[in-house]
Amino acid sequence: MIDDVRIDCAMCAMLNRSINRFIEIDGAMDISMHTSSIIDARIQLIAERIREATRLTIMTGAGVSAASGVPTFRGQDGLWRQYRAEDLATPDAFARNPRLVWEWYDWRRQLIAGCRPNAAHDVIARWSKRHGTAVITQNVDDLHLAAGTQGLIRLHGSIWELACWGRCPQGATPWRDDRVPLDQPRCPLCGQLARPAVVWFGESLRREDVEAATSATACDVFLTVGTSAIVYPAAGLVHEARRHGAFTAEINLEATPASSAVDVAIQGSAEEILPAIHRLL
Ligand code: OAD
Repeated sequence: MIDDVRIDCAMCAMLNRSINRFIEIDGAMDISMHTSSIIDARIQLIAERIREATRLTIMTGAGVSAASGVPTFRGQDGLWRQYRAEDLATPDAFARNPRLVWEWYDWRRQLIAGCRPNAAHDVIARWSKRHGTAVITQNVDDLHLAAGTQGLIRLHGSIWELACWGRCPQGATPWRDDRVPLDQPRCPLCGQLARPAVVWFGESLRREDVEAATSATACDVFLTVGTSAIVYPAAGLVHEARRHGAFTAEINLEATPASSAVDVAIQGSAEEILPAIHRLL
């Protein structure tokens, strides 16, 4: 069970037991052959498991939107390399300097407004229409929705939605406002400052989202795609799925703390690997 629904970062010190290790053992000569045949075999295995599955759950992170041009948070060009989360993505930061926080969100909104779903979003959208499929995302860009994903569980909210910072009764329910640029918007109901309706560090996820995500871990196949797997409670879902007996797989450009826990880890891009799996279904 996932008890603590507050968002949190926890680095697990797990060993990477995926393709890299294979490559080290086998030596340089056979690297490309082994890598591609191992990846092909893993793609086939995942496709087989999806074909047989009654319940499929996919959980995504920022890596799924990278090919669309949305910056990730971690990694070489990640947002948290240039900005401090404590200054921009916490309730304290907003209380201290709402203008600065809104400037950052407005910049991201403008950037995302020019982005379109990529092949990874498209495949996930198609799968979401199959009965028994659940899609959980940590992304706030709504590109899954733009691709047509059904029944999406948005664990960290949406950058396109606002809520009343003063928590006035009606303004506590997020409303959509996709105007760009947006200069320090106010709650239309009470006139107090509005905030981005995203989950900040130290805040709780919406109870309904956590419940929906937790119940989606009772599945036959659980795919974790394009997430660094270090922000909880989202990062705990793959382990929960394993406890339920699901076949678990990860698709990511690099090894993560989840890589050694899943049944199959593929180091590759979501926009290439997901369509490759889809072609075999
Ligand atoms: P991260 O930026 O932490 O991780 C993105 C992951 O995607 C990395 O592990 C990359 O290796 C991988 N990646 C990059 N491009 C990829 C591609 N084309 N295909 C596959 N994988 C790729 O993003 P999240 O795990 O989503 O929270 O971050 C989780 C949360 O931390 C976010 O929701 C956000 C952040 O702080 C808040 O803002 C509250």
